Amino acid sequence: MLKFEGETFKVLIKDEKEMIKFGSKVGSCLEKGDVLLLEGKLGSGKTTFVRGIIKDAFSPSFTLLNKYNFKDTQIYHFDFYRLEKPDYDLFIELEEVEDAVVIVEWPKFDIPIFEKSTILKFIIFEDHREVIICGEKAREFYQSYSKK
Ligand SMILES: Nc1ncnc2c1ncn2[C@@H]1O[C@H](COP(=O)(O)OP(=O)(O)O)[C@@H](O)[C@H]1O
Ligand SMILES: [Mg+2]
Repeated sequence: MLKFEGETFKVLIKDEKEMIKFGSKVGSCLEKGDVLLLEGKLGSGKTTFVRGIIKDAFSPSFTLLNKYNFKDTQIYHFDFYRLEKPDYDLFIELEEVEDAVVIVEWPKFDIPIFEKSTILKFIIFEDHREVIICGEKAREFYQSYSKK
């Protein structure tokens, strides 16, 4: 499944507002072709993070896919949580997404486009969240957020 290879970065997020700020910093780095995989339990902050990228984003856990206009492109925001078995029609659609940004919550099925992705793992602590970042743009996302 998902590979945690290469450099890994960690950010501490104290509250919802800070998570939105982290999302907006990542959003400023995004460009066509980027793929973000968001892992972590229910309520860990994945959709909140996406709201930092797209202000009006809402959870795609029922719709499976929400599309948004973003800069000069589009964002495809998926959530596989409710997908019990692989949906190959959907995966083919995903593979055909060109020149857009793809964000997937619960990336529990392995799809070829996931090979070149950035993985963000959201972890719940009693009084904060942590996000572990690795893959393609991990360093860039981390640096963008660290600059404040
Ligand atoms: N540090 C934090 N970062 C993000 N969300 C937080 C934080 N602390 C509390 N929360 C709350 O946790 C919930 C996260 O929900 P959501 O983003 O929908 O999670 P997910 O998409 O991972 O299921 C929200 O209700 C948010 O207000
Ligand atoms: Mg969610």
